[in-house]
Amino acid sequence: MNDFIYSYPTKVYFGKGAAEKALSHELTGTGKTVMLAYGGGSVKKSGVYDEICGYLKKQGKEIVDFSGIMPNPTYRKVQEGAALAKEKKVDFILAVGGGSVIDCCKIIAAQAVTEEDIWKMEFTDHIYPTEYLPMGAVVTASGTGAEMNNGAVITNEETRQKTGVLGASARFAVLDPAYTMSLPEKQVVSGAFDTLSHCMETYFGRPEELNLSDEIAEAVMRNVIRNLRVLKKNMEDMGARSELMWASAMGENGILKIGKVTDFQAHQIEHQLGAYTDCNHGQGLAVIHPVFYRHIYKGGVKQFARFAEQVWGIRTEGKTEEELAEAGIRALADFIREIGLPSTLGEMGISDKEMLRKVADTCNITAGCCKKLSREEIYEILEECL
Ligand code: NZQ
Ligand code: ZN
Repeated sequence: MNDFIYSYPTKVYFGKGAAEKALSHELTGTGKTVMLAYGGGSVKKSGVYDEICGYLKKQGKEIVDFSGIMPNPTYRKVQEGAALAKEKKVDFILAVGGGSVIDCCKIIAAQAVTEEDIWKMEFTDHIYPTEYLPMGAVVTASGTGAEMNNGAVITNEETRQKTGVLGASARFAVLDPAYTMSLPEKQVVSGAFDTLSHCMETYFGRPEELNLSDEIAEAVMRNVIRNLRVLKKNMEDMGARSELMWASAMGENGILKIGKVTDFQAHQIEHQLGAYTDCNHGQGLAVIHPVFYRHIYKGGVKQFARFAEQVWGIRTEGKTEEELAEAGIRALADFIREIGLPSTLGEMGISDKEMLRKVADTCNITAGCCKKLSREEIYEILEECL
């Protein structure tokens, strides 16, 4: 087992009434002015916005509204938020939304307390922020687990990069499954697939020998698969939405990563695809994963065979380890079709090969779980995804 240090800065309030509990306990001594940050308006339609405003006012807070954070948030939006936070002397940022709103706020929190440009700091000078405005997160769309880490995925339109930027961790996260009930089916499914992807990208990392983190990951993956099947029959099933909400947090709260070197190569490819196409994150991952795994599994046959048996329940009798590994990848691809996610980039309206070449030429390459990819192989994978 690899050595590790584990500690977590985010306090979780889960379940019915979690927002009221969190906001009445966590905002004392944080100053008067709260920036309430959200997306394109779903929180207003669902009533979550009014509810949160009510709790903030009860605490005597002054609210600075920051709206319009888009899916795949841009660095320009980060700058707009940071300028507003400085101008209004904001004391606390409350992100209310999905991964995009939460990520945008993590970097606003860092940019609001420095005159340095965060992008330049991190990617040119390799200096990482250590001071932030405090922030909390109220999750309305689960899947990314963004509320449980300090990495933000931001699109820099000038440099044409969508990549991870380090920022603030939320001091607390509100996970009330009722807040996700208005989420459309497409986003429920793609969010849950994102969670599955986080588990897989961790599971197939090193070490490959069976360990506690991987056994927990197997349980989380089975849970996501089971609950997605429940939801496909009845989207209103609150129990299944609750399970998926916690599974999403489990994917990114560090527990599955204990003692592991993770991979996240599929994510790197998808993020750069997002920089060029603004595509939906979970959908992009669904297309990439099976093709990517068919390219690399021979370097990690044991792990892929275990994945087939433990996650998909495939019987081992009469199969070589390699056949079992292949059956697991087929089960993943079949599941993607079963739950109505796209299996090709064509289904997502993406067909431009020249653009895919740029994606391959610019995406980050990780050390790799079973196999380190070359740019040519990344292009081949993307071409096969068409
Ligand atoms: O903008 P509004 O109107 O709120 O609508 C949003 C948005 O259109 C809508 N929505 C959210 N909650 C809703 C709702 N609609 C109805 N009812 C609700 N309760 O859902 C749409 C998508 O929201 P978004 O936040 O973009 O989705 P998601 O949570 O999937 O976040 C995606 C972003 O997170 C990044 C992705 O790359 C992408 O940019 N990720 C962040 C990670 C992290 N920080 O750890 C990890 C992930 O791997 C991922 O890369
Ligand atoms: Zn993801």
